[in-house]
Amino acid sequence: MKLWAGRATGETDPALEAFNRSVGFDSRLVFEDIRGSLAHAAMLGKQGILPPEDAAAIAAGLEGIRTDLENGILPVDMTAEDIHTFVESELTRRVGDAGKRLHTGRSRNDQVALDLRLYTKTALGALQGQIAELDQTLSRRAGEHRRTVMPGYTHLQRAQPVTLALHLGAWREMLRRDGSRLSDALARMDECPLGAGALAGTTYPIDRQATAAALGFARPCANTMDAVSDRDFVLETLAALSVIMTHLSRMSEEVILWCSSEFAFAALPDEFATGSSIMPQKKNPDLCELIRGKTGRVFGSLMGTLTMMKGLALAYNKDMQEDKESLFDALDTVSACLAAFTPMMGAIVFRPERMRAAAAEGFLNATDCADYLVGKGLPFREAYAVAGQIVRFCAETGVTLETLPPERYKEFSPLFGDDIYEAVNLDTCVKRRGL
Ligand code: ARG
Repeated sequence: MKLWAGRATGETDPALEAFNRSVGFDSRLVFEDIRGSLAHAAMLGKQGILPPEDAAAIAAGLEGIRTDLENGILPVDMTAEDIHTFVESELTRRVGDAGKRLHTGRSRNDQVALDLRLYTKTALGALQGQIAELDQTLSRRAGEHRRTVMPGYTHLQRAQPVTLALHLGAWREMLRRDGSRLSDALARMDECPLGAGALAGTTYPIDRQATAAALGFARPCANTMDAVSDRDFVLETLAALSVIMTHLSRMSEEVILWCSSEFAFAALPDEFATGSSIMPQKKNPDLCELIRGKTGRVFGSLMGTLTMMKGLALAYNKDMQEDKESLFDALDTVSACLAAFTPMMGAIVFRPERMRAAAAEGFLNATDCADYLVGKGLPFREAYAVAGQIVRFCAETGVTLETLPPERYKEFSPLFGDDIYEAVNLDTCVKRRGL
């Protein structure tokens, strides 16, 4: 018997039933569904909408279902239409008529909106914890490498010397913004849709403030039509997750570059690298490549959900059942990527000597040479031109700014003194920038 066998009398086509069914993926909302129903039933009892003994029977029945699910002795019926149907029919099976009263003053439309918000709030809280863990790991690694000089790049061309701490610090800024984006989304989704009914509220004297507070929301949603048709919280979550994946993908790309023989700035311990079935020498950064690759599916979830929502007239439409798989997949993916990336960053072996050697090659201190002349009174544009001539000469003759003899320097400008060597020293370069 369908929950909605109201007007219809004929049986639905089994193929349609299968097509309509969402229990295969929304069963993960089961504990949120029970929480929501417990709060709803308690409120119905308190308001005198249900007799106290019915409210008590419902609460006991729902608690029993929760315990049995937790203990693995109650399997979810995978032929149920959705998880809401499953919980309600199981409740009725257990407590009889009282179970049939649970849905008083409620619709699956406000119910599903509630369950998904509760689930998202919890998942984002957990993700914030994972982001904080990665941040702590990076902070520790940066602390070990305050004085590790490496090339900084623009256009992937060596630009100026930096420290590994500055580079890892840039990653940490990305994560800081990611965390605050999730906080913003959490603050906006902190409104409870329960009590919006199908779309127009209810005729029963329900107490939406009470259910909102009991479920840990700041307040009830202001507009009942909006409450059941809004999925901004899903979109904002997917957008924030997409940015997180963009960041993890960029970090992964850098680790891949650093671990190549061409860079050799870092090496992955065996636990975090894979081999090749044919080339015995290979050590592949699969983990980083997978993170970079999985970024695409999270973007796909965002695009899919935006597209799914964009033509929907108010209020609920069944299209919206499609919000869940994308959201769950994106949350799982980001969580799995963070769980893989964080320990890898904790264990990656940096090679400061290789970084320094790379920073010593390619005239990364040319700006400092120009700045030296500025310090002696030359306008920057002229200093820049002189430093450029010196770099060209050095490149042609195979010397560096550190090894060019003093008399050569003087040929380019009489302003050069012996203190130029201190000025172009890589450690001085980073120190003078406060790095
Ligand atoms: N399984 C549905 C969903 O996920 C629940 C809401 C059903 N509401 C309805 N009016 N058919 O969207």
